[in-house]
Amino acid sequence: MNSNEYPEGIKVLIDEERIAERVARLAKQLEEDLDALQGPVTLVPVMTGSMLFTSDLIRHLQRPLRIAPVTVQSYPGSSTRSRGARLQTPIPDALKDTHVVIIDDILDSGGTLAVLRRLMKAVGPASVRACVLLRKNVEHDITAICEYTGFDIPDRFVVGYGLDYDGLYRNLPFIGTLPEHLIGVEDAEA
Ligand code: IMP
Ligand code: MG
Repeated sequence: MNSNEYPEGIKVLIDEERIAERVARLAKQLEEDLDALQGPVTLVPVMTGSMLFTSDLIRHLQRPLRIAPVTVQSYPGSSTRSRGARLQTPIPDALKDTHVVIIDDILDSGGTLAVLRRLMKAVGPASVRACVLLRKNVEHDITAICEYTGFDIPDRFVVGYGLDYDGLYRNLPFIGTLPEHLIGVEDAEA
């Protein structure tokens, strides 16, 4: 294998066309709900995973809005299991009295969104809602955690369209599953 190429074996789970179509519909639904509210709107993308999702979503939103990213790390290095969400940047003060929309790539244990919602409430926003592209774990009472979801997917580790494994694959334009042999020994045994 040429070291400048991604290895074979990554399977397409959701292709570019399906992503684009779903993102447009999610944006429409979000915009209708935001239009029914009074006051400014701030989108809070969770970096780095929601980078592509956010950039596509916001191009469908016509209304005035601000963007205040935060960085959360929950899967350090070559881990495929959450080690607990840790905020790496301060919660922006500018969220006070605005309608906040947290945007994340994927909802798994719900830990990331729970931590963010708790920290954001402390700065006094007008409201907080969350929007994720993917939802992996359907056992939770999800509506309490996340109001907008793109796709429900099986409990597999996925990469692409912003999502990484050990920092790689974020630039793939589709969502794909990673074959077992590319996942580290530590995680395969955990
Ligand atoms: P949670 O805190 O367990 O809900 O996990 C959410 C975070 O874990 C997401 O923001 C992702 O960064 C990361 N994550 C969860 N599942 C995957 C996956 O399958 N691939 C890549 N990252 C994932
Ligand atoms: Mg993330």
